[in-house]
Amino acid sequence: MMVCEYKPGLEGIPAAQSSISYVDGQKGILEYRGIRIEELAEKSTFLETAYLLIWGELPSKEELEAFEHEVRYHRRIKYRIRDMMKCFPESGHPMDALQASAAALGLFYSLRDLHNPAYIRDSVVRLIATIPTMVAAFQLMRKGNDPVRPRDDLDYSANFLYMLNEQEPDPLAARIFDICLILHVEHTMNASTFSARVTASTLTDPYAVVASAVGTLGGPLHGGANEEVIQMLENIGSVDNVRPYIENCLERKAKIMGFGHRVYKVKDPRATILQKLAEQLFEKFGHDKFYDIAQEMERVVEEKLASKGIYPNVDFYSGLVYRKMGIPTDLFTPIFAIARVAGWLAHWKEQLAENRIFRPTQIYNGRHEIPYTPIEQR
Ligand code: CMC
Repeated sequence: MMVCEYKPGLEGIPAAQSSISYVDGQKGILEYRGIRIEELAEKSTFLETAYLLIWGELPSKEELEAFEHEVRYHRRIKYRIRDMMKCFPESGHPMDALQASAAALGLFYSLRDLHNPAYIRDSVVRLIATIPTMVAAFQLMRKGNDPVRPRDDLDYSANFLYMLNEQEPDPLAARIFDICLILHVEHTMNASTFSARVTASTLTDPYAVVASAVGTLGGPLHGGANEEVIQMLENIGSVDNVRPYIENCLERKAKIMGFGHRVYKVKDPRATILQKLAEQLFEKFGHDKFYDIAQEMERVVEEKLASKGIYPNVDFYSGLVYRKMGIPTDLFTPIFAIARVAGWLAHWKEQLAENRIFRPTQIYNGRHEIPYTPIEQR
């Protein structure tokens, strides 16, 4: 057997062959099925981009209408899932609530038919349609309110914001939110996608695939960083405190949240788009002083860490966009999951098409031939 060098974090080791998305970390390029995200952010919608990722091509007008129609009419969640969610502690993190709810959905669809395209399509529609409803329902229930029913007359993103805030959103906010979903939908072989593919490779159901990926996305080094960015901006408090804060982090060798990326060694192209979206929101709904702090952070971090290729990543400006929309900080990562579920499902489908169970190896560095010591002698 070929012996490979051990790479902590599997850095640079291919875990799959994939035609779903592509990143050039030196040039700051991200493509979905070959199309640049800048173009998709300008011209596409989240559901159209989800279709592109999952089925490999942009849909025709009829295909898109049929997909949108199916998603629209599968948004309601079962009352037993709602009742289960009511029992969750309101102090629990919404990501944990989402993970449990996505897994519970699988209890209702336990008949697995992985080789049937109709099963794949139904599962995709059900998960993309219901995950936003679950996130919004938990948000209302933890405030002591009843969840609101999805509105069939509203588009995907507008309906989510409606379910969350119990009022119809401003059209600009809804469009910007939809672009945020496009920017978060897929990103090659990151930790949660790897987790999804490993789970998929055991031929379990797609609800288990999504639940394991949600669990992985929640950590502060992955999707959870967007929450920590806002907490960091709150702690910094003013532009004058930025430089001392960063110098202190560097002295302690602490990571500055929202900066750095395993693949990008330039500014993440998604951060560039998100920054522009944040500016559009500030123009219409008023300035946010946290934006001044963020811009100063970007300047100081570039001055100190550009030589290491540390620049803002996707999480740096997304929080400012969601904050301006009045979304609570601990919903930022569940919103990341609302988008990323389509990327995970694209990888689920791709994994099934040429499946081999993941079974890597390890380098054993423990002991051998140790005699068993009876408990009285320990
Ligand atoms: N602040 C300060 N220094 C940093 C940072 C940072 N955010 N990120 C990396 N570095 C330094 C690090 O100290 C190391 O320096 P040295 O070589 O002198 O020891 C060098 O850059 C390489 O860092 P690394 O930790 O080996 O890089 P990695 O590829 O293992 O980690 C990362 C990538 C994203 C986990 C890391 O940059 C990080 O922890 N960033 C902060 C958390 C964050 O914003 N996460 C969101 C990631 S993007 C979205 C997502 O994946 O969900």
